[in-house]
Amino acid sequence: MNFILLHDQVAPYVAHIQLNRPKELNALNLELMAEVRDTLKELDQKDDIRVVVISGNEKAFAAGADIKQMADKTAVDMFLIDQFSTWDQIRKFRKPLIAAVSGFALGGGCEMAMTCDIIIASETAKFGQPEIKIGVMPGAGGTQRLTKAIGKSRAMELVLTGDFIDAQEALMRGLVSRVVPEELFLEEAIKLASRIAAMSPVATRLAKEAVNRSFETQLDEGLHFERKNFYLAFASEDQKEGMKAFVEKRNPDFKGR
Ligand code: CAA
Repeated sequence: MNFILLHDQVAPYVAHIQLNRPKELNALNLELMAEVRDTLKELDQKDDIRVVVISGNEKAFAAGADIKQMADKTAVDMFLIDQFSTWDQIRKFRKPLIAAVSGFALGGGCEMAMTCDIIIASETAKFGQPEIKIGVMPGAGGTQRLTKAIGKSRAMELVLTGDFIDAQEALMRGLVSRVVPEELFLEEAIKLASRIAAMSPVATRLAKEAVNRSFETQLDEGLHFERKNFYLAFASEDQKEGMKAFVEKRNPDFKGR
């Protein structure tokens, strides 16, 4: 692995993927994205991993898709390479995925963060979809996810001007779940991951699916899906253990079954 670093068990049941092209501000080239895709595929299968944190470094989460790699491509090249299909693996990842964002999260970087389930931002984080400034537009979900996260008017302004928003505005508009000091951004994300990892992996998976469904369906269908998954949770041993432990006033011992 060259373009990402995998830190296994940074806390019990928690893995950390670090994007690792610091000189290029973690620009997302095809090779890096293939590594992310393959690593997530592996982590999805591992019983000893329940939550994954993905981060860059203090200066950049990722400054977008690699412009240098795309600059000379034709439309047919782009269609055949279909580089954004690797993004689908992030979307398909079944365990909770937390983006720990410091510095730039731009273009594909912002889109990658938004594809994760929760975004924790350092106070130096900057989010934006600046593709318009290089003559294109967001291509990995930005027009859809940013609009759903912060509303049409502000999303349209950002997409059409390429302006960035800072961490505080991102918090105020609901793009991120919290803002923390820069020196703590990774630690706080791992702490949150640990709390989630202590829950039943069956229930977290079902809950994640159901929350995501709210973006993909109308309320009626979303509520139906949510209810079905809630009932399904009762087929797990973890539900029995969790509720029994509550009644017995002790901590649950979840087995993921
Ligand atoms: N692709 C390739 N290289 C990039 C890059 C990118 N997206 N972003 C930064 N880099 C490279 C720079 O070319 C530079 O490399 P060299 O040292 O070899 O020149 C290095 O990273 C450091 O960048 P800067 O010198 O520009 O750093 P800065 O602090 O002055 O500026 C910045 C930072 C404002 C983020 C600026 O780098 C920038 O505007 N980057 C491009 C942002 C952008 O347009 N992203 C969208 C890309 S398209 C996309 O993502 C499509 C999609 O929907 C998926």
